[in-house]
Order: sequence, then C-alpha cells, then structure tokens
Amino acid sequence: MPTTFTPQTALAGIADLAASGHRLIAALQTPEGAYPASPTFSAYAGYCWFRDGSFIADGVSSYGDEASATAFFDWCARVLTARADHIHWIVNETRAGRPPAGEHMLPARFTYDGQDGTDEWWDFQLDGYGTWLWALVAHAERHGVDLSGWREAAELTVDYLTSSWDRPCYDWWEEHSESVHVSTLACVSAGLDAAVRAGLVSGTRAEEATAASRAIREVVAERGVRDGHLTKWLGVATVDGSLAAAIAPLGMLDARSALAAATIDALERQLTVDGGVHRYLGDTFYGGGRWPILSCFLGLAHAAAGERERAAELLAWAASTATADLDLPEQVDGHLIAPGMRQEWLDRWGAVATPLLWSHAMLIRLAVELDPTLTSLTSLTSLPEGPTR
Ligand code: BGC
Repeated sequence: MPTTFTPQTALAGIADLAASGHRLIAALQTPEGAYPASPTFSAYAGYCWFRDGSFIADGVSSYGDEASATAFFDWCARVLTARADHIHWIVNETRAGRPPAGEHMLPARFTYDGQDGTDEWWDFQLDGYGTWLWALVAHAERHGVDLSGWREAAELTVDYLTSSWDRPCYDWWEEHSESVHVSTLACVSAGLDAAVRAGLVSGTRAEEATAASRAIREVVAERGVRDGHLTKWLGVATVDGSLAAAIAPLGMLDARSALAAATIDALERQLTVDGGVHRYLGDTFYGGGRWPILSCFLGLAHAAAGERERAAELLAWAASTATADLDLPEQVDGHLIAPGMRQEWLDRWGAVATPLLWSHAMLIRLAVELDPTLTSLTSLTSLPEGPTR
C-alpha cells in the first residue's frame, strides 16, 4: 500500500530512500550479476531484462557503485557471447533479405544463469540491446573503466542492431509488435552512438553503426514527430511516457531543442497528474496507473532542459509512492485510466510488482542528477522545496 507521505516528507527522506533502494538492489543482484526485475512478482520472478537491468546499472553506477554495474555488464556480455553463433545467423539471414521471424530474434529477458527460460513472453524487443550499450559506455566514461573486455559482446550487439533496427517489435511495455516505436529507436541510436564514440567498434562496423543511427534520426524526424513533439510510434500522433528518455538520460534529442520542449510539454499535459506519469492514454494494465519510473524519466528530461524545480517535484512524487517498508512499486492507483481493468490484472498476476528494482534505480538516478554529490556515503542537501498538494 502506498503511504500518505507528502512531497515534503518524501523529499526529506530521499537520501534514505536512495540508500535503502541501493541496498535492496545490491542484495538482490545475483551471483551471476543479473538484476531480478521484481523478486516476488509472479510474472517477473526468476528473470532479468536487458531494459530494466541496463537502467538499474546506470542508476547504481551514477550512485558510485561501480562494481555492481560492472558485474551486470559482464552478465550481459556472457549472455550475448554465448549466443554468438545464433546472432551471426540472424545478422546473415537479415542481410540476405530473409529476416528471421520474431520468435527467432533475441529475447527481452533471461534467467539469472543466462538461459532463455521456458515461460511464454512478448520477447522480441530491440530497445534493451541499445540501452545496455549506452549504459555500459556511460558507466565507463563515468568511472574510467577499460572497455576492452566487452568488445566482442558490443560487436555482436552492434551487428544485431544495425541489421534489424527498422523492424517492428514489442515496445518498452511489451505491446504493439506491429509498430516501430520511437523510444525503442532512441535506445538503439543512443547505443550505437555510444559504441562508436567509445571505440568499442571500428572500421566498417563503426561506419554501419553511424549510418544506422543517422537513418534512425531521419526516420524519427520524418515519421516520429507530430504537432512538434515525438510520437509513440512512427505514423501516429499520440505520445508515450517512455519518450522522455529520448531527451534524458539517452540524449538522442538536445534537451534545449524545440522538439524536446514540445515533447516534455505533451507528456506533462497528456500523461501527468500531479507528479505521476501514465504510460499512455488507453493503458489498461492494472487499470493504467502512474509509474514512478516515468516521473523520474520526465524529471531527468526537465533537469537536462534546466527545469530543476519541476524535476524535484517529479522526484518527490516518485518518492511518495514508497511503501512503509520503503519499497517502490511499478505503478500506483489513485488516478487510473481504466479503473474497470484493475481487478482483472490483480486476479491474473496478483498485487502490483513491489519492489520493482527499476523504480528504485530511477529514483537514485534522478536524485543524483539533482545532487551529484549524492552517494551512499552522503545525504541530499541541495534540492529545491517540493510543492504542496
Ligand atoms: C513492463 C516492462 C518491464 C517488465 C519488467 C513489464 O510489465 O512493461 O517495461 O521491462 O515489466 O519490469
């Protein structure tokens, strides 16, 4: 159950919440380096996602935990290199004009020991493969880590993405496999750019990565913008909360550009209630509540655009969703898009995933953005006051 923290009390407690979130993530990281998405939630238990995990690694890396993030990236690399033959096959088939069906592409999540797992899932999602490259390079740049041990895995990933980035696949929410999603494209282009920038790839492979990233930007400009803002997928007018990530932390868009400003504005107007951000209009998952991770992504976008006070308000809202045990959920009720659908999901999968490690990591990531001195050894001192409500 969410507590009745006010934004002010939440803000005062953010350093504690960041610290307890970090302890939770560190305690739950498996010996193999994987991050469980949510340890007890029925549908997620036993699996680590490239998407969640990469953002979790970025959060703990920003918080000063170099070893945990490194262990996660090592896990990613083992998952990928163990599938080198399969990835070569996908790339060769695709380049020969025979793109494999979605079920033959890499999955979105793996068991902790790096297997595909046996449960059915909405698996073909490209975003996590871009995000791990982006997060790995951000980690290396932040901590001065030598990247050479990840080169083979990075090359496999770049080949996979340069050959397949334009394919429709499931989005961040594991829905709509018929579309090409703009936030997925942002993850892919950020990952390709990072790999080239860091010298993880060279020669023809680097040229292909650069060309693919440029093509992504062109297709987004042509078909992923409507009414001046980014759109949920190519060819529509609607938005999605995940689009904030294209501004920050992924940095696909210049945060001070008119496109970024209009995207932030659309997310605020269409999806944000108080400081809580919905995934998209029409969301029915658990009734379509507000997601703390999305408040944090929008906060990161605002912070990058210089709007630190609004970023702090969004952080305070995310913190206010903590339970009495300081666990952060995947989403909260209180303002639902489709209230009539909530019970169906409660019956199907049980209570909302809590704790969700990605929520904890995003809170840490935004808190550090607003106070870069924040680590597990310091406290938050410089945030502006939050709003009353
Ligand atoms: C979300 C995904 C997430 C997964 C694990 C799903 O419900 O839609 O974005 O990766 O849960 O947390």
